[in-house]
Amino acid sequence: MAELGLFSTELLSPNVQAILPEGYQLRALRQSDFDTGFLDCLRVLTTVGEITKQQFEDRYAWISRQDGGYFILVIEDTNSSPPRVVGTGALIVERKFIHNLGSVGHIEDIAVAKDQQGKKLGLRIIQALDFVAEKTGCYKTILDCSEANEGFYVKCGFRRAGLEMAHYF
Ligand code: ACO
Repeated sequence: MAELGLFSTELLSPNVQAILPEGYQLRALRQSDFDTGFLDCLRVLTTVGEITKQQFEDRYAWISRQDGGYFILVIEDTNSSPPRVVGTGALIVERKFIHNLGSVGHIEDIAVAKDQQGKKLGLRIIQALDFVAEKTGCYKTILDCSEANEGFYVKCGFRRAGLEMAHYF
């Protein structure tokens, strides 16, 4: 039996799965993804550091306790041997008091392996995260990105809104 992932398969967009290249699978992050290329995939985005298996499992366990608040999905290429994670993205659902107890989806940590870019996998990840957001009752999804990625997100249906401010510690 396939290992259970971070969230229910009901939150995986059937339309996105149907349109992925042959042998590519959309699924929730799994605890076993320490060994499947997930962290290498994130390394195209930013520094990840040298995370041990125990640290990965502890963080996975913490995220899995966030009860409907934290969704990380991956695209796995099952044509490669062993199967390899080639793309990932996260949605954090923020539940508010305003807007009649509205929820906002924050899209984070989108990454597609270098040798897999340009195959629409990034677009599919965003569509899959938007599906999760709609299913979990979000009224919008928002994200921060660099100017260099603005065109990608415009192609995904987003538009510039506001300005990011940051306070680093
Ligand atoms: N600028 C303008 N257009 C772009 C860009 C870009 N940087 N990247 C892709 N596009 C266009 C493509 O040409 C394509 O257009 P088309 O439909 O006319 O053919 C469309 O956007 C969809 O592109 P995909 O093939 O889905 O893009 P890809 O799979 O390569 O993923 C991504 C794009 C995620 C930005 C990838 O290049 C990547 O992983 N980059 C490094 C990590 C990164 O910067 N991640 C985003 C950080 S922001 C965040 O996480 C919220």
